[in-house]
Amino acid sequence: MPRYALITGASSGIGLAIAEALARRGRNLILVARQRDALESIAYELTQRFGVEVLFSSCDLSEPLQVSGLLQELELADQQIDLLVNNAGFGTAGAFLQQEWSREQQLVEVNILALTRLCHALGQRMVQQGGGQILNVASVAAFQSGPWMSNYFASKAYVLSLSEGLREELKGFGVKVSVLCPGPTRSAFFRNAQMKSAKLERSSLMMSCEEVALLAVRGLDKNRAIITPGWRNKLMAGWPRLAPRALVRYLVGKVNRSSSGRKAD
Ligand SMILES: NC(=O)c1ccc[n+]([C@@H]2O[C@H](COP(=O)([O-])OP(=O)(O)OC[C@H]3O[C@@H](n4cnc5c(N)ncnc54)[C@H](OP(=O)(O)O)[C@@H]3O)[C@@H](O)[C@H]2O)c1
Repeated sequence: MPRYALITGASSGIGLAIAEALARRGRNLILVARQRDALESIAYELTQRFGVEVLFSSCDLSEPLQVSGLLQELELADQQIDLLVNNAGFGTAGAFLQQEWSREQQLVEVNILALTRLCHALGQRMVQQGGGQILNVASVAAFQSGPWMSNYFASKAYVLSLSEGLREELKGFGVKVSVLCPGPTRSAFFRNAQMKSAKLERSSLMMSCEEVALLAVRGLDKNRAIITPGWRNKLMAGWPRLAPRALVRYLVGKVNRSSSGRKAD
């Protein structure tokens, strides 16, 4: 039975870079995102360049019915999925109460619910087939609360906690679970969240998607529990454990508030 890595959010940014890094290693892929045209041309390009089989499925992960459709499609196909990369996600920036509720709900659907459902469905399949690997994409945002991006930071804290929990639960079944915690990475993320990123773009904190993907794939090879790419991000992930929580909340809120375009106190 042919084996595949399934990557959500593979139409751009970190997901696309992970797809390319895996194709370079000869992995067959199933790409999932909303933009069908982008997926089609990426599938064609990766097949041409690396001689791997690349399938794709257009799915809006904020729509539970579409997620059900995707899972049914995967169930019916004669494929073994031995790597799941739950990468699709987005952020919203600014005061929580001033956001459109529909957008906040979509954030929870994509960043939390769809990711959890895919872990559940494909995790079961991996256990039945005797093993597999799951990589969930959280963020350095997962290590603290994030006023003025509260829902996004909370969603990533959930992803980190779920991934660590599942890692322990599934290790006896040969299923390895890792979580990727990137820091600021050059992608459409900031534009989609309507954040001001000009200052960040110029800073040495910003990594490329390709760097993040390379370190993610190396982390998977080593079966790392938490993959935090680069020493600067490791510092960003570590400092909230050392500083008083009230100070962390205050400082992170100040940064988020100013990058959301709202004046900091
Ligand atoms: N960039 C950063 O600084 C950064 C830092 C830490 C963590 N992350 C995380 O990294 C992941 C990838 O983000 P990125 O930086 O690569 O941003 P990106 O370039 O905007 O990519 C987001 C991906 O998610 C997909 N997606 C969004 N909403 C979707 C939906 N409703 N249904 C299906 N797919 C959806 C998008 O595809 P379609 O538009 O085609 O649907 C796209 O492929 C996210 O989970 C993000 O939270 C990013």
